[in-house]
Amino acid sequence: MRSMANRQSRCLRLVFATRNEGKVAELTALLKETCWAPERLPPSFGNYEETGETFADNARGKALFASAQLSSPVLADDSGLEIDALGGEPGVRSARYIDESLSQEERNKAVLDKLSDTPVELRTAHFFCHLALALDNDIVHETTGRCSGSIGLAPRGNQGFGYDSIFIVPNLGLTFAEIRLEDKSAQSHRGAAMRAMVEFLGRWPPN
Ligand code: IMP
Repeated sequence: MRSMANRQSRCLRLVFATRNEGKVAELTALLKETCWAPERLPPSFGNYEETGETFADNARGKALFASAQLSSPVLADDSGLEIDALGGEPGVRSARYIDESLSQEERNKAVLDKLSDTPVELRTAHFFCHLALALDNDIVHETTGRCSGSIGLAPRGNQGFGYDSIFIVPNLGLTFAEIRLEDKSAQSHRGAAMRAMVEFLGRWPPN
């Protein structure tokens, strides 16, 4: 018990610049074996408007926006789903695709409707994640991750978030929403990007 408290007090704080609880859960689990303690943004914190053309632009923008107001290192994630048959949509607009006011369930249905005439072999898709780490108003490290799969014919599963229930992992034949968080992270874009980021964090402080 005592050593646990000691370990906690020795941990460095890492602020996640996101209000997406799905992302927070996955990133937190991947920090578990490290000496970094995840923290949420303060409730009063303003919203960053994502106007970038790329995942990298938005991740850097979010990280720098938060870093300008905080003294701890800040980690930002920008991610999304690119569907080949839709010319890479929803892409950087994944969180706002079709119409900002849609629920995620409606958004998933809209994607499935757009693909209604697309045969199974052409429903390929890719998740992409860009992580940016900022400190003192500067980007100190960036990592990326990608994973490929396909879009199902109907939503399946109730775990995870976002487009998880329509994204099928090829070697499992299951959607991200049908598998445990740890199993998703072993295959996912965010898992890959975060494992590379954890390696960098293990060599902290940066030179
Ligand atoms: P943003 O990074 O805040 O622009 O939002 C990313 C959006 O992409 C999320 O709101 C989800 O709709 C989608 N997304 C990103 N990563 C995942 C994932 O791991 N599973 C499902 N959807 C995701």
